[in-house]
Parts: sequence; C-alpha cells; structure tokens
Amino acid sequence: MIVLGIESSCDETAAAVVNDRRQVLAEELFSQFEEHKPYGGVVPEVAARAHLEHLGPLIEATMRKAGIGFADLDGIAATAGPGLIGGVIVGVTMAKAIAAVHGKPFYAVNHLEGHALSARLSDDVAFPYLLLLVSGGHCQLLVVEDIGRYHRLGATIDDAAGEAFDKAAKLLGLSYPGGPAIQRAAEGATDPVRDLPRPMLGRPDCNFSFSGLKTALRQRVEELRPLSPDMVANLAAGFEIAVTESIADRVKRAIAAARERMPNLTALVVAGGVAANQRLRTCLAETAAKANLPLVAPPIRLCTDNAAMIAWTGLEHLKRGETSALDFAPRPRWPL
Ligand code: KG4
Ligand code: ZN
Repeated sequence: MIVLGIESSCDETAAAVVNDRRQVLAEELFSQFEEHKPYGGVVPEVAARAHLEHLGPLIEATMRKAGIGFADLDGIAATAGPGLIGGVIVGVTMAKAIAAVHGKPFYAVNHLEGHALSARLSDDVAFPYLLLLVSGGHCQLLVVEDIGRYHRLGATIDDAAGEAFDKAAKLLGLSYPGGPAIQRAAEGATDPVRDLPRPMLGRPDCNFSFSGLKTALRQRVEELRPLSPDMVANLAAGFEIAVTESIADRVKRAIAAARERMPNLTALVVAGGVAANQRLRTCLAETAAKANLPLVAPPIRLCTDNAAMIAWTGLEHLKRGETSALDFAPRPRWPL
C-alpha cells in the first residue's frame, strides 16, 4: 500500500509518500520560516498564500523522487485540522482534487493523530502507549490505546510548552523560534538560575501550566536589567530546567494514570517540536527508566510538523477500509 500525505496546517508546506512497510519513499518540506521571521511569529494570511504557492510543485517533486505516478497510489491523505484554516483548506482541496481526478480514496487526517502515530512509523511501537505531545501549539498527554482510540489525561491550562519557550526567548532578547535559541544560550550557562518556579509540581492531575513561570522570568529580567550575555545564559538554563522538571513531573503522574487504564502500557513516546530539546530528552529518559518503560523519541524530522506522519496516519486508516467523503469540511478546531 502506498499513500501520499500533505501537511499545511501551520508554517511548513510538506508532502511525503510512505508505504505499509514503514518506508518513507520520498518527502519534501518547505519551511516558511523566512516569511514569518520579520513578524516574530506565524501570520495566518502569509502562511496560506505561501502554501498555495509552494504545495503544487512540492507534490510534483515528491512524486518524482518516489519514482511513481498518481495512478500508483492507494490513497491521498491531508491534514484537515486542527490548524490555521487557510492553509488547511489549501492542503485538503489539493488532496481531494488528486483523489477525485485519479479515482483514489481520500482520508482527512487529524494533525494531532498524525503526531500520535508518528512513533509507529519510526519505531513500530505497539498499543497502548503514553504520548507526550509538546509543540508550539499543543501540549498534552494522551493514552494511545488503538487507531482512533485516544484518551486525554491532561493538557496545558494556558500556554503550550513551545509557546512558553518562544515567549521566554523574546523576554531574553533571543531569536525566533525561541526553543532552539534558549537551548543554545543555556549551553553557555555558568550558574543556572535555580529559584524559578516549577509549575504544577506534585498536583494530582496531569495538566500543564507555563504562564506563572513566564511571569517569574519577566520579573527577574526586569530586576536584573541590563542583561549581560552571562545572565542571559544563566536565565535561559534556569528556564529550561524549570520547564523540563515541570514536564517530567506531569509525565510521572501520567504514567501512573495511564497504567490504571492500561496496565500493559508499552512505552513513553514524545512528539512535537519541543521534543528536540536535549535537556528534556535526557530528563524524560530518566523518568521513563524509573517507571520501567522505554522512551521512544522519533527522529526530529518526524517530531516537528511533517507530511510523512500524515501519510502514515492516512495509511493506517485506509488499511482498515476507512475513508473520508470528498465533502469533508476542514476543521480549525478538532480535539482528538
Ligand atoms: O512541532 P513544531 O515544529 O510546530 C508546531 O508548533 O506545530 O514545534 C515548534 C515549537 C516552537 O515553539 C519551538 O520553539 C519549539 O517547538 N522548539 C524547541 C526546540 N526546538 C523547537 N523548544 C525547546 N527546545 C528546542 N530545542
Ligand atoms: Zn504539529
């Protein structure tokens, strides 16, 4: 089985072809980073236009690299939400058009399900597993019980983890996107700030919160101004440590809660752009090991937004005979 996947829900335009042997036959990605950089964040109208401009040629390049034609496909999958609606409409419309013209099945993929199933493409992880999804737009803990069966244990009550990194970087005068900039700055820390709050520590639920930590950081920045490079490094490291410890504590809670539902939990899986953070990875590996669970962290290109996970998710559904109607309406909001 061979499926073409399209991703256009945020600021990456992407296409990929995968098969049911878990091989990515080809993938192409255009990052709109430069388009949005002057604004310090993603501008929806700019994103939609860029998707429209780049998606067609990108799909052609992907098919060429895979060495196949549309007639060889067993289906076309596209992110149909949640996300910035202009971009989602571009991707879904393109997928439907290819499906209609070539008489192929179409599958409307929930972007979050794409993240949830990416570890099955990279590592063939068996159900049920615990997923920590930490990106710029999402921050949640899910028990992935089966295809189409997801139980949300907790989510952020304010900012997403990536959003917190981005806002903290701005406070520290670092570049956008903030996560990689904070990680880089933190590497030069000589004496990380230790007394920033660890949000939600010890709470009995599995929710996240980062706005209090951000406020504490802002106050500290105001007290210390003007910031020397050394202070920036120590604050960046302090912030990174606080976020990491907070997330690890939430994950520890979630492992216990997940095991109450599913005693045969197979793994802790991490996905989303923040999963690129080295300190977080190290800390999660320790948390998982203490709970006697393997930590599965797919390669970074599969953790951030990509089309291979969308193609794979479409494939998992299409393999079960599930398809979407060609009048499926894209959904800006679409909880799993
Ligand atoms: O999954 P993603 O590429 O896009 C979506 O938000 O859907 O995630 C992007 C987020 C940004 O907020 C970025 O700052 C964060 O992931 N990020 C990181 C790192 N690399 C990217 N956060 C912390 N440490 C990193 N190394
Ligand atoms: Zn995403």
